[in-house]
Amino acid sequence: MLILGIESSCDETGVALYELPDGAGAGGRLLGHALHSQIVLHAQYGGVVPELASRDHIRRAVPLLRQVLAQTGRSLTDIDAVAYTQGPGLAGALLVGASFAESLAFALDVPVLPVHHLEGHLLSPLLSADPPSFPFVALLVSGGHTQLMRVTGVGAYELLGETLDDAAGEAFDKTAKLLGLPYPGGPVLAKLAEQGVPEAVHFPRPMLHSGDLNFSFSGLKTAVLTQVRGRELVEQERADVARGFQDALVEVLVRKAVGALRQTGLNSLVVAGGVGANRELRRSLNAQAARRKFRVYYPELEYCTDNGAMIALAGALRLQAGAQPKAAGSFSVRPRWPLADLNIVEA
Ligand code: KG4
Ligand code: ZN
Repeated sequence: MLILGIESSCDETGVALYELPDGAGAGGRLLGHALHSQIVLHAQYGGVVPELASRDHIRRAVPLLRQVLAQTGRSLTDIDAVAYTQGPGLAGALLVGASFAESLAFALDVPVLPVHHLEGHLLSPLLSADPPSFPFVALLVSGGHTQLMRVTGVGAYELLGETLDDAAGEAFDKTAKLLGLPYPGGPVLAKLAEQGVPEAVHFPRPMLHSGDLNFSFSGLKTAVLTQVRGRELVEQERADVARGFQDALVEVLVRKAVGALRQTGLNSLVVAGGVGANRELRRSLNAQAARRKFRVYYPELEYCTDNGAMIALAGALRLQAGAQPKAAGSFSVRPRWPLADLNIVEA
């Protein structure tokens, strides 16, 4: 059974083909995927311009689909179901992917699977050669979300804690802007931080002792603002601020993730979402894992940020778990979509 996946929730258009074995057998595989990132398009504006994002998704959808079909040697008529990101994300951008997916499925007379973007992220480590097995704790750190979840199986997610304000990626991006770094700020700031001297600038670790698994990063961003406001920083000072910021944010993420493992009694941690690509976060989590005897699983770097493969995978695994696909035709998108609505089985 072939599932086509389509992602268009923000500034990346992704298309992928995932194959499920016939019958109830396990062992699906990704046949191929193609991605177009709009980074260059939005860079001159210092952030994502929603209208431009929507228009670019329109331009890219068909060529990317053709590319994936050519790459995998399959044709349109081989597709058995179409999974697409229904939310959360930018309304216009979601509408492009949703209408593309729904009309294609309608024309092919196959059903559709509207997928939650975050479910795609948190299942994405299952695409790697050494995948985790359920249950695990997921640390989801993207541009829009920062959440800790207990994942018991496909469609069984329990929220353990989340950010009360800015997401981790958002904090990276806003802080990068304060430091005059170009969009997308996260990876650029992370690179600059490598040149910074540890503890040359110390920032607070927000919510570290809150006694729960929630996060708050807007105060950290304000602390950076206070540090840099009205000053002309030389390159080394900017690197030191970047380092101080990254160290503070990473320490909070790591300590809370360890707290979630302790609270749930689990010993597998899955890290997903764009910030999961951060080298310092990985280094620090790996060090804790070695010390505290748990295992950390990361998606392959290409599946860390938004992509179609994780959406095809989430659709396929949902089907396998017994979720009912819907008939193509009428649809809506869900720019805001609470994770709690996602469960198909009890967490
Ligand atoms: O998951 P993602 O691609 O999109 C959302 O669903 O939000 O995450 C994008 C976020 C951005 O905020 C970006 O700055 C951040 O992930 N990011 C990073 C790194 N790579 C991407 N943040 C820190 N270090 C990185 N290496
Ligand atoms: Zn994402």
